[in-house]
Amino acid sequence: MNNKSSTPVTGFVIVIASIAALAGLLFGYDTGVISGALLFFRKTFALNATQIECVVSAVLAGAFLGSLTSGHLADRYGRRSLLLVIALLFAIGSLVSAYSTTVLILIGGRFILGLAIGVGSYVAPLYISEISPPEVRGALVSLNQLAVTLGIVLSYAIDYAFADKVNGWRYMLGLGVIPGIILFIGMMFLPRSPRWLVSRGKLEEAKKLLKKIRQKTRVTQEINAILESNQYESQRNWHLLLKKWVLPALLIGFGINIFQQITGINTIIYYAPTILKIAGFHQASTAILATVIVGTVNVLFTIFALPLLDRWGRRPLLIGGLICMTASLFYLGFAFGHQASHASLLKWLALLSMVAYIAGFAVSLGPIAWLLPAEIFPLAIRGLAMSVAVSCNWLFNFLVAMSFLTLIQTLHPSGTFTLFGALSVLALIFVYFFVPDTKGVSLEQIEENLKAGVPIRRLGEQP
Ligand code: BGC
Repeated sequence: MNNKSSTPVTGFVIVIASIAALAGLLFGYDTGVISGALLFFRKTFALNATQIECVVSAVLAGAFLGSLTSGHLADRYGRRSLLLVIALLFAIGSLVSAYSTTVLILIGGRFILGLAIGVGSYVAPLYISEISPPEVRGALVSLNQLAVTLGIVLSYAIDYAFADKVNGWRYMLGLGVIPGIILFIGMMFLPRSPRWLVSRGKLEEAKKLLKKIRQKTRVTQEINAILESNQYESQRNWHLLLKKWVLPALLIGFGINIFQQITGINTIIYYAPTILKIAGFHQASTAILATVIVGTVNVLFTIFALPLLDRWGRRPLLIGGLICMTASLFYLGFAFGHQASHASLLKWLALLSMVAYIAGFAVSLGPIAWLLPAEIFPLAIRGLAMSVAVSCNWLFNFLVAMSFLTLIQTLHPSGTFTLFGALSVLALIFVYFFVPDTKGVSLEQIEENLKAGVPIRRLGEQP
C-alpha cells in the first residue's frame, strides 16, 4: 500500500486496522447467523411469529441503542477502551445466546450482541480512521466493511455446517465467542488513537505513538495540525454538535447513513431467497444458491473497491455504484411487473439484477457510508456525532427489515423495487450535490475547511 508521497503505511498500522476490523467481522457474523439458526431454535422453543420477530429484531434494537447512547463515552474514555468493552460483550452475548434455556434469555443474549454491534459499527471505523495516514485511509477504514461482508459469508457457512447437528443452532450462535476473544486480546496490545490522545492532553504519548507508526519527518507536522484543530475541548458536547459550521458534516453523516439503508440493501441480504422464489426459483437449493452468490459477490466487489477508494476517490465510486444499484432496482421492478410474459427468463434476469445491485452497493454505499462519517466530524465531538449518525443507520435498517414483507404484499414486488429505485435516485442526487471527496486529505484539513465555511462539496480539498 505504498504511495507516491513520502509516507508509506507501516505494517503496524495495517495490523492495527485488521485487528480493529474484527469488530466488523462480528457485526457481519452476528447479523447474518440468525437466518439459518432460527429455523432450528424456533422448534426448540416452539416459537410463534411474534416471538421469532422479537429474537430477530433484538440485535437491531440493541445496535440502535448501543450506537445512540455511547458516543460521549468514545470521546471521554477513548476508542480503544470501548473496543475492549464490546469485545467482552460480543463474547458474553454469544455465550448467553448459545446456552439460553428460554426465549427471553435468547432475546437478552441477542440484545447484548446488538449493543456490541452498534458501538463497534462506528468505533472501529473511527479508530482506524484516526490511526491511518490520509493517503490510504479509505482502504484501511474499509477493511472494516470487508470484514462485515466476510462475517456474513462465514455465518452462512457455519449455519450450513451445523444444520444437521443436534443443538446445531447453539453452535451457530455461540461460535461468535471466538472472534470476540481474539478481538479482546488483540485490542489489549494495540495503542490508543493518537488523535484522541491529543484531545485529552496526552501529547507525549501521542508523539511516541506517531513516531512508531509514521515516518519521522511527518510526526511534528501531524501533531501540530491535530493540536490546532483541538481548540474546542471546552465544548465537548451537544452544543458543539449544533454549531452552524458543524451542520454540513451532520448533513453528510446522517444522509449517507440513512441512504445506505433506505436504498434496500438488507431486503437482498435478509430476503434474497424469498425474492428469488417469487421470481420463479422454486427448488429448495435456491435459497442456498442465492445466499452463496449474494455473499460472495459482496465480498469480491468490496475487495475490488478497497484500493480504488484512495486512487479514484469516494465520489466516483459512490456515483458509479449508485447508478448500478438504481438501474438494477428499476429493472427488478419492471421485470416483476411483466412476469407473465416472460416467466422463464425472468428468474435469471432477477438473479442477475440482484448480483449487479450487490456489486454496486459493495463499491459504494457499503464501505463509504462508514468511511465518510469517520472522516468529516470535528475531533472534539467525533465520537458523539458519529454515534448519533450511525444510530440512524440502525434505525432505518430495522424499519426496512420490518416493513419489507408488508411492502411486497401491498405494493407487489414490482412496486416495492420501483420504490427502492426511486429512493436510489434521491441518494444519487444527494451524493452529487452534498458529498465531498475526502481522498488523500488529512482529518485536520477537513475540519479546518468546515470551520472556514468552505462549500460542502469542496470540504475535502486542500487550500
Ligand atoms: C450495512 C449492512 C449490510 C452490510 C452488507 C453494511 O455496510 O450497514 O446493513 O447488511 O453492509 O454488506
